[in-house]
Amino acid sequence: MKGVGGEFGGGWVVRISIIAGARPNFMKVAPIMHAIRRWNESVSGNGVLSPMLVHTGQHYDVMMSEVFFRELGIPEPDINLEVGSGSHAKQTAAVMARFEDVCLEHRPDWVVVVGDVNSTNACTLVAAKLGIRVAHVEAGLRSFDRTMPEEINRVVTDALADLLLTPSPDADANLLREGVPNARIHRVGNIMIDTLVANLDKARSCRTYERFGVEPGRYVYVTLHRPSNVDQPDILRGILTDLMDLSQSFPVIFPMHPRTRKNMETFGIRVNTGGHFQVVDPIGYHDSLCLAENARFVLTDSGGLQEETTYFRTPCLTLRPNTERPVTVTEGSNRLTSPATLWADIKDLLQKPRRFGRVPDLWDGRTAERVLNALMHHG
Ligand code: UD1
Repeated sequence: MKGVGGEFGGGWVVRISIIAGARPNFMKVAPIMHAIRRWNESVSGNGVLSPMLVHTGQHYDVMMSEVFFRELGIPEPDINLEVGSGSHAKQTAAVMARFEDVCLEHRPDWVVVVGDVNSTNACTLVAAKLGIRVAHVEAGLRSFDRTMPEEINRVVTDALADLLLTPSPDADANLLREGVPNARIHRVGNIMIDTLVANLDKARSCRTYERFGVEPGRYVYVTLHRPSNVDQPDILRGILTDLMDLSQSFPVIFPMHPRTRKNMETFGIRVNTGGHFQVVDPIGYHDSLCLAENARFVLTDSGGLQEETTYFRTPCLTLRPNTERPVTVTEGSNRLTSPATLWADIKDLLQKPRRFGRVPDLWDGRTAERVLNALMHHG
């Protein structure tokens, strides 16, 4: 590899901007930052990768952002765009305007984006228009449901990215069907699992279930934040009523996302918490992994938890009509459910063993290395 980003002390330097904006992004940038550090330590003198970590500020609460930097050993961001919350257009536009200035000043060789949040999409648009190459980690996932903001972000990002780094064969097939040339697609595996594998010992030592007064295999871990589940009063009220009923037979632990909590307040919804129904503030990464591994089952609408439960082979019910991560259903322990079928699906799931399914290929903790190899190959 020569001269991609210019000469530096007799070797080459490649300037890479890595973008993180919202909670699930932090688990995905952590292994890339660590792999870059290892790469620089190992090439000794031939050249370096020069990372610049850009936090867009889409998530900003300590428990939605800072806690993940601390737990995962991610270096402080070099730049924080501090965009905060807003409508989709306002948030996307704020990231674009501020990230454009960053690109003009620093002229990265690559912009690496992860996942499917508004920050992913916004930074891709900026880089593509400035002629800066974009690599998308977690490319090709499709729910085929354009009512989800993330699906729009995925389609736009993948249409513009130069290098599409996919987690699974279904993602490759989706991209090929959309006319993406094969040469731009590299299957690298699941980046989220790199972080899971690296943090497993720490997560296990948390014994988080003890703090909630429950036993392994004897509780349900719940997370819900998608607009389709929490933005309409009737739907949110119905789900919470089911959860209160469920807590009569199984303790329920529900760390509540700020969107969900804010909506409960706005809609005037109250739940009887305490006892077997524990609604708490968002929890950190290690605690979440620990609860996911040891739950009797997980009820969620999160993409990350569908993958983490598949790795643990913990039964998972995903409260959505579709998933952009079909291997978690075809190979893993994930099942889709709806508010109308939730009770029947819970009963069915409780007939199944405590663990089932298999871990998909390339969910092995080495995805970040493959990401860097693909970047260098395309350098
Ligand atoms: C975003 C992502 C979603 C991801 C989720 C993970 C998009 C379109 N959505 O959804 O894909 O699964 O993050 O959490 O990018 N808020 C706070 N503190 C924060 C951040 C947000 O209180 O640190 C509140 C604000 O009231 C905000 C609301 O949560 O309006 C929603 O935040 P936003 O980033 O718009 O979307 P999420 O629902 O978090």
